Amino acid sequence: MKDSHRGGVSLQGAVKQHGTLTVLHGVDLDIHPGEFFVLLGPSGSGKTTTLRVLAGLESISAGRVLLDGEDVTQKDPGERDVAMVFQSYALYPHMTVAQNIGFPLKMIGMAADAIARAVADAAAKVSIGHLLDRRPGQLSGGQQQRVALARAIVREPRLFLLDEPLSNLDARLRLETRVELKKLQRSLGVTAVYVTHDQEEAMTLADRIAVFMDGRIVQVGTPQGIFGRPSHASVAGFIGTPPMNLLQATWSGQAVRVGHNGHVDIDAAAPAERAVTLGVRPGDLRITDSGLAAEVELVEELGDSRIAILHVGEQRVKLKTDSPIELREGQAVHLGFAAKAAHLFDRSSGERLN
Ligand SMILES: Nc1ncnc2c1ncn2[C@@H]1O[C@H](COP(=O)(O)OP(=O)(O)O)[C@@H](O)[C@H]1O
Ligand SMILES: [Mg+2]
Repeated sequence: MKDSHRGGVSLQGAVKQHGTLTVLHGVDLDIHPGEFFVLLGPSGSGKTTTLRVLAGLESISAGRVLLDGEDVTQKDPGERDVAMVFQSYALYPHMTVAQNIGFPLKMIGMAADAIARAVADAAAKVSIGHLLDRRPGQLSGGQQQRVALARAIVREPRLFLLDEPLSNLDARLRLETRVELKKLQRSLGVTAVYVTHDQEEAMTLADRIAVFMDGRIVQVGTPQGIFGRPSHASVAGFIGTPPMNLLQATWSGQAVRVGHNGHVDIDAAAPAERAVTLGVRPGDLRITDSGLAAEVELVEELGDSRIAILHVGEQRVKLKTDSPIELREGQAVHLGFAAKAAHLFDRSSGERLN
C-alpha cells in the first residue's frame, strides 16, 4: 500500500452547474501522490461539490478529472479506486462494526476469510479492534468516526476523500482525532483530499491548501505560504486566529494612511496614490508612540496571551500579544507595525499589491 506513485489527482477546468446556478467556475487542481491536500473555504464555496466530482458522485458540464494520469471523467465511483468519508459517517445501523467495515469488500466479491483478515487489520489501524461485534448505535461519536475511517481504508484505495470528518466531534476529541488522522495518512502513504471550513484544522493537517471562495480557487499553497503571503484580501480575512485585520486605507509614497487617524511607513513605494485594503495580522500590531490613533474597546484575556479590540476611527481592529499590557476601556493609544508586516490589497479587486 505504501506506493508513493499512486493517488495523483488532476482536475482541469471543472465546471459544475445546478440548473442555472454555477457552483464551480472552472476549478483546476493538481495533487501529488501521498499528499495531504486540504480544500478550505467558507460554507457554500464549492468544497463538497469538488470532492464529489473527484469521487465520481457528481458529473461536470465542462472539464476533466484525471487520476494517476488516466481520464476518469466518465467513470463511475466504483471504477475510480477512491474511498470517501462523509461528515455523517453514513454507517449501516443494522450491521455490526465488522460488517460495516467489510461491506466494500463484500461488494466486490471477496471471500469471507479474506474479508475478516482485512477488517481486523483496518480496525487495528484505527484502534477499534475490540468493537467489531457492536452496532453503530452502541458506539460514541468518536468510535463511529473510526469505523467510517476503517471502512474507507479497508480497500486500500489510491485516494482518500474526507468531507469535514471531524465536525461532529466535540472540541477535545476533534484535536486528538486530527493528530491520529494525520499519522494514519502518513503511515498508509495514501493521498488524502480533505474538506474543511476550519482554517486552523487546515493549517495543522495540510501539506498544501486550496482556498475556495464562491466556486473558485483563490490560492493554493503551503500553510506557511498562505498565512505569510495571502494572494487576496478574502484569503487574508479568512486565515489566522483571529484573522488578519483589514482596514480601508490610502497608499502613497512609502506610507499607508488610514483616514484622519494617521499613517505608518511601509517598505514598498506606491507608483501613484491609490485606495487599498491594508492587512495587518493581530500579532503584528503594536502599541506605539505614533502611528494610527486608536481607542480601546475591550481586552480579552486568554491566559498565555491577550487580544485587545480597538477602534481606528470607525474601523475595528484586533491586537494580539503575549506580553502583559495594561489597557483600559476607552483609553486612547497609537498603533504601529513593522514596515514588512503590511499586506496591501487593491480596494476593489482584492488582489495583492505588495
Ligand atoms: N444538489 C444541489 N442543487 C442545487 N444547489 C446545490 C446542490 N448541491 C450544492 N449546491 C450549491 O452549490 C454551492 C456549493 O455547495 P457545496 O459544494 O456543498 O459547498 P461547501 O461544501 O463549500 O459548503 C452552494 O451554493 C450550494 O447551495
Ligand atoms: Mg460541504
